[in-house]
Amino acid sequence: MSGMFITFEGIDGCGKSTQCELLKKHLEDNGKDFIFVREPGGTVIGERIREILLDKKNTQMTPRTELLLFEAARAQITDEVIKPAIEAGKIVICDRFFDSSSAYQGMARGMGMGFVANLNMAATGGLKPDITFFFDLTAEEALARRGKRGEASDRIELAGLKFQEDVRSGYLELAKNSEGRIITIDAMQSPEEIFEQIKKTLEGRI
Ligand code: TYD
Repeated sequence: MSGMFITFEGIDGCGKSTQCELLKKHLEDNGKDFIFVREPGGTVIGERIREILLDKKNTQMTPRTELLLFEAARAQITDEVIKPAIEAGKIVICDRFFDSSSAYQGMARGMGMGFVANLNMAATGGLKPDITFFFDLTAEEALARRGKRGEASDRIELAGLKFQEDVRSGYLELAKNSEGRIITIDAMQSPEEIFEQIKKTLEGRI
């Protein structure tokens, strides 16, 4: 028996977490066997790596270290949580997965999307999401939303507007080349409209 692997992606402030919550509730209401995880984190080791990655004090972290830490956290959650759950026939929802590294480190940090793709492969042993929802929004709009929520910025969010614009370009390029795996959703729509689109896409598949 094999389950289903669904990931959510987008720049910081794109509304992805709201949609994760709506999907969780929907799956619960329909009695589906699922787990929900987030990256970086989702394991004891991964949560410790997450603290290092997001700590504002770590100003001296180099892009290569950053990339390898994200990949290390990913390797751990893939082997410890995601693969066993899929093999047990569960639906796995992951808030961010390897497309985040391609867009943030590959494109925005300038490490190269091809280079990051190889490391993604190494970290996941080739595991790929069945469906990825990419919530597309301009960096300005996302920043305005984050401002409204009054959230303290973490180390990655502090990288600024131009950085988020580059992340967005990375995602758009990934979506174009994903052969249908990445579904781009206009994140300017209302949360209800967006969730309808997600439900429609998943109809008959979960
Ligand atoms: P998080 O608080 O989980 O943000 P969000 O709610 O937006 O998902 O912080 C994760 C941050 O790390 C976010 O800014 C995106 C970034 N990130 C990368 O740069 N590369 C990666 O591979 C992953 C998984 C996340």
